[in-house]
Amino acid sequence: FSYPDPKLQKELRETAEAIVAPGKGILAVDEVNEGIGKLLAAIGLDNTENNRRRYRQLLFTTETLSEHVSAVILFDETVYQKTDDGTPFVELLKKNNIIPGIKVDKDAVPLFLSQDEVTTQGLDDLAKRCAEYKKQGCRFAKWRCPLKIGENTPSVQAINDTAQVLARYASICQSEGLVPIVEPDVVLDGDHDIVRNQQVTEAALAAVYKALSDHHVFLEGTLLKPNMITPGQASSKKNTPEEIAVATVSSLRRTVPAAVPGIAFLSGGQSEEEATVNLNAINQVTLKKPWALTFSYGRALQASVWKTWAGKDENTKAAQLELLKRTKANDLASQGKYQG
Ligand code: 13P
Repeated sequence: FSYPDPKLQKELRETAEAIVAPGKGILAVDEVNEGIGKLLAAIGLDNTENNRRRYRQLLFTTETLSEHVSAVILFDETVYQKTDDGTPFVELLKKNNIIPGIKVDKDAVPLFLSQDEVTTQGLDDLAKRCAEYKKQGCRFAKWRCPLKIGENTPSVQAINDTAQVLARYASICQSEGLVPIVEPDVVLDGDHDIVRNQQVTEAALAAVYKALSDHHVFLEGTLLKPNMITPGQASSKKNTPEEIAVATVSSLRRTVPAAVPGIAFLSGGQSEEEATVNLNAINQVTLKKPWALTFSYGRALQASVWKTWAGKDENTKAAQLELLKRTKANDLASQGKYQG
């Protein structure tokens, strides 16, 4: 078999490396309309296209954001939206040296005859959609597959399905010149302990990288977006950031090839401070780590921003300062230099 031609390899590799440049990470603002609708409702705003646009404009017009953020993940609608003065968001981001990317999965649906497990849709027309997003200025994509920990789950059925779907997605993205961010998300729900999460995450990652290899995915032009290894949210056992960090780095070392340039964690329901402190501890682990380890946070970069903005124009500057505070903290954490 063969790899992409050298020109495409170079483009993919350079984009992936730029996204995980030292001290930089990803701002994930790819909430689907239904998801952002809940956040808007919480501050008393209707889920209109204009309100969704106003919120994203607040984020993208934050001055000096690019000191800590290399890339943003957009939702389809956002790719075509503009600022109040008519500048397309994608143009504004590019001008500010921030790489636009796009969520391309079409969310989870039930896996028939499984124990409440899911698969993720969106492969059928993916090449066509990737080509269109590339034309619009996107340089990478994201696809999330959730896996749930239960007594008998994730099943072999769900793990193999996740691996195959992510591998097909990654291969299609690369064929259209987009860097795939591969996101197998072992979700935080459940009362399992950290050891169980580690076992499940290692099994899932091993399956994912076997499938990526089978599909000839050029690993140097990909990024991984995994969960950290933590106990379940409802677990009675808690672990220190150092324990979480050692479990996380150990799992990644066992399963993720050194050819992958970077690993950008999801926050998955951790608080803002927790996500930062854990990322910092991960970067302080003394085991050899061949990849950049950084953030691709959604909720853990935006919770304070939503609270401060509260839908009011006069709060825009203060909300932008909250965004800078969180992104700066995670910039430091991605270098193991966060002091709290
Ligand atoms: P969270 O950091 O809120 O988990 O979101 C990241 C993301 O993009 C999930 O797919």
